[in-house]
Amino acid sequence: MRIYKVGGAVRDRLLGKPVTDIDWVVVGATTEEMLAKGFRPVGADFPVFLHPKSGEEYALARTERKSGRGYGGFTFHASPEVTLEEDLIRRDLTINAMAEDDQQNLTDPYHGQRDLEARLLRHVSPAFAEDPLRVLRVARFAARYATLGFTVAPETLALMRQLSESGELEALTPERSWKEISRALLEDQPQVFVEVLRACSALKVLMPEVDALFGVPQPPAHHPEIDTGVHTLSVLQQAALHKQPLTVRWACLLHDLGKGLTPENEWPRHIAHEFKGLKLIKAVNERFKVPKDCQELALLVGEYHTHGHRALELKPSTLLELLQSFDIYRRPQRFEEFIAACEMDARGRKGLEERSYPQADYLRGAATAARSVAVQPLLEKGFKGPELGEEIKRERLKALKAYKEAAST
Ligand code: CTP
Repeated sequence: MRIYKVGGAVRDRLLGKPVTDIDWVVVGATTEEMLAKGFRPVGADFPVFLHPKSGEEYALARTERKSGRGYGGFTFHASPEVTLEEDLIRRDLTINAMAEDDQQNLTDPYHGQRDLEARLLRHVSPAFAEDPLRVLRVARFAARYATLGFTVAPETLALMRQLSESGELEALTPERSWKEISRALLEDQPQVFVEVLRACSALKVLMPEVDALFGVPQPPAHHPEIDTGVHTLSVLQQAALHKQPLTVRWACLLHDLGKGLTPENEWPRHIAHEFKGLKLIKAVNERFKVPKDCQELALLVGEYHTHGHRALELKPSTLLELLQSFDIYRRPQRFEEFIAACEMDARGRKGLEERSYPQADYLRGAATAARSVAVQPLLEKGFKGPELGEEIKRERLKALKAYKEAAST
């Protein structure tokens, strides 16, 4: 039995990047031999095992053939006769199809090292098409390594386009897609993920609501970049530059979906796009079974981001409604994330990336003012039930009026 390090661990070592998890491939062994050495099988009919001590994944060298549509539609053939080269050829990218033995001798039959040097994401063979998730994976790697100068090879992009247009992407499960999308959004250049998906026509299939934003103009006075799709990419880029969490990045991607619904004769204005976009945001959230915190923030940012921008002009009563909608008393973090998303939206505009955003501190101050209303004295005065609720609201409104006045002097 011969054991090799494969995939991301080899790639990242050659790139001089930290290696987090290591995958191994085992050539010349049977399942029985693995079990006898104490390896634990991952699934009943999948030739992958966990090391008894390190817990790392060891897969028997295998060939794969697609037997049906979608995931799960695979037949595996793992046997001691399958060679390392046969195992590597079924993998997605040449840079992921290198193996290394314990002396760091490289096996690189598909020229992964050459492509690493050329900064190219290139598929290994036509077997790439057997797993449509790879369209998202390549876009994710493009987002991760864009800073290093990587691009997608034209022939790989063409294959990705073919896969996208064939309807295969529709067979992906929401869970697998979301895993790729969420990881890609957390990369250094998440906007590249969206750009690559768009370049291969996958965006139209996965998120037609985002795809529809390209070519939609906005007023140049507020949006020197004009195009709503371009703006959305810049907002996402700002979110990454400012190290925002996934919730904020997801909200940034979806905040302007309503602008895709504006009739052309109303362009470049987008009246009520905040409200109109909500049903689209909901649809995308549900399509990928997005985690609840991401779903909620995207909907709130979609509905209220222009309130954020106009914070200093809002009447105290509108300000109070905004704070109540966010339930700032129990969910302070969520309001902070809203403020962050608004700030990214304001900066994700051509030439305005460095602008200041006084709305952020103003909104924080308003939240502090509303929270400063103490309930105990009202209880002591004898208020209860709905009356107590009304009284708290009145007091908060008073506090916000005073806050606004003080801020404007
Ligand atoms: N692989 C593949 N096709 C997939 C998933 C995985 O060909 N759909 C292969 C690639 O060779 C990949 C290896 O399996 O390098 C390990 O996959 P995974 O752990 O998902 O990715 P990594 O390449 O290790 O990348 P990451 O750093 O993102 O974990």
